[in-house]
Amino acid sequence: MGAISTSLRSQQISTSITLAISARAAAMRADGQDVISLGAGEPDFPTPEPIADAGVGAIRDGKTRYTAASGTPQLRKAAAKWFERFDLHYAPDEVMATAGAKPALTMALMALVNEGDRVLLPTPYWPSYPEMVKMVGGVPVDVTPSDGLIPTREDLENAAREHDAKGVMINFPNNPSGAVPTGDQIEAMVDGADATGMWIMSDEIYARLVYDDNVHVSPASFEKGRDRTIVVNGGTKSHSMTGWRIGFLAGPKDVIAAAARLQSQAIGNPCSISQEAALEVCNEADDSEFERRKAAFDERRQFLHEAINAIPGLKLDRPQGAFYALVDAREACAARGIDDVALTEQLLVEALVAAVPGTAFAFPGFLRLSYAASMDDLEKAVDRIRGFLSK
Ligand SMILES: Cc1ncc(COP(=O)(O)O)c(C=O)c1O
Repeated sequence: MGAISTSLRSQQISTSITLAISARAAAMRADGQDVISLGAGEPDFPTPEPIADAGVGAIRDGKTRYTAASGTPQLRKAAAKWFERFDLHYAPDEVMATAGAKPALTMALMALVNEGDRVLLPTPYWPSYPEMVKMVGGVPVDVTPSDGLIPTREDLENAAREHDAKGVMINFPNNPSGAVPTGDQIEAMVDGADATGMWIMSDEIYARLVYDDNVHVSPASFEKGRDRTIVVNGGTKSHSMTGWRIGFLAGPKDVIAAAARLQSQAIGNPCSISQEAALEVCNEADDSEFERRKAAFDERRQFLHEAINAIPGLKLDRPQGAFYALVDAREACAARGIDDVALTEQLLVEALVAAVPGTAFAFPGFLRLSYAASMDDLEKAVDRIRGFLSK
């Protein structure tokens, strides 16, 4: 008998490019090379102490057993209240806990997408989206915004009609660009989805990381958006909880109930210890520690904005949110006769700086630098990039 073969569906799915780049940078470091990684979207701060203590307390108190698959009633209630921060009003049964934003997105897509359904992905997008859509049998469709980084109502309506799309996935503040739309721009997207009957999957995992005068606005905060939007959020990025694997999904009750049934069969409850820690995030009364972390990201953002624009061949519009800079490297690429993928490879091997090529986000010619790294590392990385490009 021949060897067993993997499913056709699994063969269509690629590995997470950002995780692959981080793993490669880690392997080079283990090999003794002094690589600076600006590849990963992972805060360099530890999990805040009260949250970590809540996790330790949960272990000591024996909160280590199965919970309800969609989260403890206490957590769902606290999370519903926490969503009010974003002007979103949900009942506890319109919110569920998940093992991070990734499972939240996957369960929600599984609850909404039928075989062959087309799902719009405005570019630039997080590389997991097309893979997730394919995983649940859908067909991802790239949509290039007509005017930069934020899709207009017409962009969405035209693409929805052309492709008979059932839904759209948006992510603001955006990874990789840091773009933060105004309330009017979000409302226009809601109107576009409403006019064409699409659902909106709104990944708001960076909602608390907005700078200058920007304000995060959720499509679900609009009357027409409330019943057609599924919101993904959590403390992963704002509270340095990448390893805890905990997040939230919120939306119309029937969609949450469907996602909860799927989660109960595929995953079971998110980690009971992490749920207790997440309760601490939801109930956090004092924002001062969070504001301190945000101010550190802001300082790095401003540094990178100035320093990158001082390097010939690179341009950077001031990022508005999250902790990413999407650097326009088209001139630098053209000068060397290479594309962004080759430039990223050369930066890693020759300058020992790990970045992610814009091609991974369907945005060729650009490089994504994460500024969830120390100022020290950012300064060194900028020096190395400048030195490399001046050769
Ligand atoms: C846009 C976006 N959504 C979701 C995630 C994943 O979040 P989690 O670790 O909670 O699954 C990330 C992490 O990089 C992200 O950038």
